[in-house]
Amino acid sequence: MNVLVTGGAGYIGSHTCVELLNEGYGVVVIDNLCNANPKSLDRVRQITGKDLKFYEGDVRDEDLLRRIFAENEIGCVIHFAGLKAVGESVAIPWKYYDNNLNSTLVLTKVMGEVGMKDIIFSSSATVYTADNEMPLREDSRTGNCTNPYGWTKYMTEQILSGISYADKDWGVVLLRYFNPIGAHESGLIGEDPRGIPNNLMPYITQVAIGRREKLSVYGNDYDTHDGTGVRDYIHVVDLAKGHVAAVRYVAAHKGCEVFNLGTGVGYSVLDMVEAFRTVNNVALPYQIVDRRPGDIATCYADPAKSRQVLGWTAEHDLKDMCRDSWNWQSKNPMGYDS
Ligand code: NAD
Ligand code: UFG
Repeated sequence: MNVLVTGGAGYIGSHTCVELLNEGYGVVVIDNLCNANPKSLDRVRQITGKDLKFYEGDVRDEDLLRRIFAENEIGCVIHFAGLKAVGESVAIPWKYYDNNLNSTLVLTKVMGEVGMKDIIFSSSATVYTADNEMPLREDSRTGNCTNPYGWTKYMTEQILSGISYADKDWGVVLLRYFNPIGAHESGLIGEDPRGIPNNLMPYITQVAIGRREKLSVYGNDYDTHDGTGVRDYIHVVDLAKGHVAAVRYVAAHKGCEVFNLGTGVGYSVLDMVEAFRTVNNVALPYQIVDRRPGDIATCYADPAKSRQVLGWTAEHDLKDMCRDSWNWQSKNPMGYDS
């Protein structure tokens, strides 16, 4: 079966292409390269020894999508394509609503036309409200998002569940990711952010490689074991395997289901600093600075539903995540342009 992977040249998409090819699926990628380097797809070919098909273009381009469905027998869509910088979404909300919502609307319109109605969507733990008890379960409260990026995830969940409610031929899987980090063990693909990284792990690896002077730890007065923010970090290869499990699931189930993809374990920023230093034996200077607006103290998943229903569970631990993040960064100091 062929899987159409939107945003497949990106960080999570490229790792998912590897796992799909390894499991014997055919892969067709559409990506406009607004936040990716096409070398990632060459590396996917190198890792797997298999080919995939790539269309450079925008998911909002209806005619291109029709052509892709006409030229390839697609059995399932994984929809990663989207903009994801929280701060930028606050500064330029229209860009985020346009890209993230219209890509889904156009994609599902064309899928409906061609009668291919199985879709897996990249949602986020950001859809949960800040006042939930931990761990977060799929039925924890959602909404009250603090930024337009989060709203696009929330709204896309509403759009897809509404479509599947109205037409029982749709199979929709909403995957709520926690904090993906790490890289493929080969060190050939990994996260390659443009400009100054927003997220913790790419910032850590860029400090360790000497591209940035020191890490700023955003607050040490949270109600956590050491005062710094706690998150559920998940190895990107485990996350990618979660998508393969979802492809199998959606082939056999109609309707809309939501799953957390996390480990169920929370680590603080200082836990991450300590683990990264110890595992990789590198220096990692940091300073404590003010809290970052919009951050919450603690966020981690209850992954029980994914384990029970998808038969999926995260297998990599924090050591693996720190080792593989560093392996990618040290082999590619400037990312794909090294
Ligand atoms: P990424 O930026 O590396 O990948 C997204 C890809 O989509 C990029 O290759 C980009 O070029 C492409 N793209 C964006 N808009 C497009 C469009 N209109 N048409 C075609 N291609 C387009 O990001 P990622 O970390 O791999 O995230 C993938 C998905 O997972 C995103 O939807 C993101 O919001 C979601 N997600 C990511 C995280 C995270 O921490 N990385 C957490 C939760 C959810
Ligand atoms: N942090 C620092 N310094 C940094 C970067 C981050 O101390 O330079 C801290 C943050 O304050 C937070 C933790 O590290 O406590 C993790 O921060 P990230 O920015 O890596 O991740 P977030 O949990 O804030 O957000 C991520 C994604 C969002 C997504 C959310 C939930 O960036 O898109 O997870 O899935 F919505």
